[in-house]
Amino acid sequence: MSRNAGMTLSTLPQITAAARAALAPEVRDYLEGGAGDEWTLARNTAAFDEWAFRPRVLRGHGTPRLDTTFLGVDLSMPVIAGPLGADRLFHPDGQTAVARACARAGIASMAPEAGSFSLETLRAEAPTAVRFGQLHPTGSTDTFRRLLDRFVAAGFDAVVVTCDCPVGGWRERNLRNGFTPPQSTVGGNYPGDAATFASLFGTHRPGWDWDTVGTLLSDAGLPWLAKGILTVDDARAALDAGAGAIGVSNHGGRQLDGVPAALDALPAIAAAVGDRTRISFDGGIRRGSDVVKALALGADVVLLGRLAFHGLVVAGEIGVGAVLDLLRDEIVTIMTLLGRDSVRDLDADTVTYNASR
Ligand SMILES: Cc1cc2nc3c(=O)[nH]c(=O)nc-3n(C[C@H](O)[C@H](O)[C@H](O)COP(=O)(O)O)c2cc1C
Repeated sequence: MSRNAGMTLSTLPQITAAARAALAPEVRDYLEGGAGDEWTLARNTAAFDEWAFRPRVLRGHGTPRLDTTFLGVDLSMPVIAGPLGADRLFHPDGQTAVARACARAGIASMAPEAGSFSLETLRAEAPTAVRFGQLHPTGSTDTFRRLLDRFVAAGFDAVVVTCDCPVGGWRERNLRNGFTPPQSTVGGNYPGDAATFASLFGTHRPGWDWDTVGTLLSDAGLPWLAKGILTVDDARAALDAGAGAIGVSNHGGRQLDGVPAALDALPAIAAAVGDRTRISFDGGIRRGSDVVKALALGADVVLLGRLAFHGLVVAGEIGVGAVLDLLRDEIVTIMTLLGRDSVRDLDADTVTYNASR
């Protein structure tokens, strides 16, 4: 973290290791754990090792361009801090620190429905970064509509609809530890209203379908990202319902164990719908080479999950800033060595499958 005074960690793996070491065991398990046997969680990171780069030498014209846009939001690099709730479990400043670090880095962040701070607080904290509001199509349609109205009133640019969380996954580390995040860390959007929050993830829930989601979002008039898509069929269904972007994600392996690594699901979805929509990717991003591989396989932007929170744990806003600085520097170095001029030009020729590494 050479650019950040007071920090002595200078690589992303160091930051991840320091964060893991700093957390109490049950909080570490909550952050790092996945569902079931954690097969999907392990595949999410392992999948990146199955792709090798195909560098082109004596090409490229100077410093590669990292800037892009996603759902109308300008980004200095193709990275967004994804929606992660329970944020004050990890640092008192939680998502306010993430938002400020993203603003400094010229990228965006997403205000989570199940976060520690209200969406209005986050937006006020860093209006240039907090551009996306996230919610779940799970509780009553009234609750959903009220949150959408708040996104509109707060001036958000786009909405993230997390489609893969009708109920929390079967997370055995939390069962073993008897750990549930305290309401104070997840109820920032529903102060004094634990019942409404609880209704979001109960098993006795109203039926939701793409038509309902599409109609409510169309009424709100904001573009939306369908997050949690793993099949071409669902990508098409989301686009038919009016989604402006597809979020290839398995929720960091925390929901349904046994689904493919997010990276394994990406190429088929990109081949089927990539020419008519934008694609975000998340799941297992731990360093810059992961970002470049996801972009090569069809993503337009990646969402950071645990990696951003590793920086948060280590040093709040400064720690998240260090993660973003290191990520950017690594991406620039890799793009230069690959002979590629812009992240917008990365394509399947950039990588090859299963080369012996
Ligand atoms: C502690 C934690 C809380 C999360 N909370 C949410 C949430 O409230 N809404 C959501 O859509 N995804 C949530 N996610 C999933 C992330 O947005 C993202 O899909 C995932 O972390 C990506 O995988 P990675 O952490 O391996 O990069 C959460 C993930 C973690 C680790």
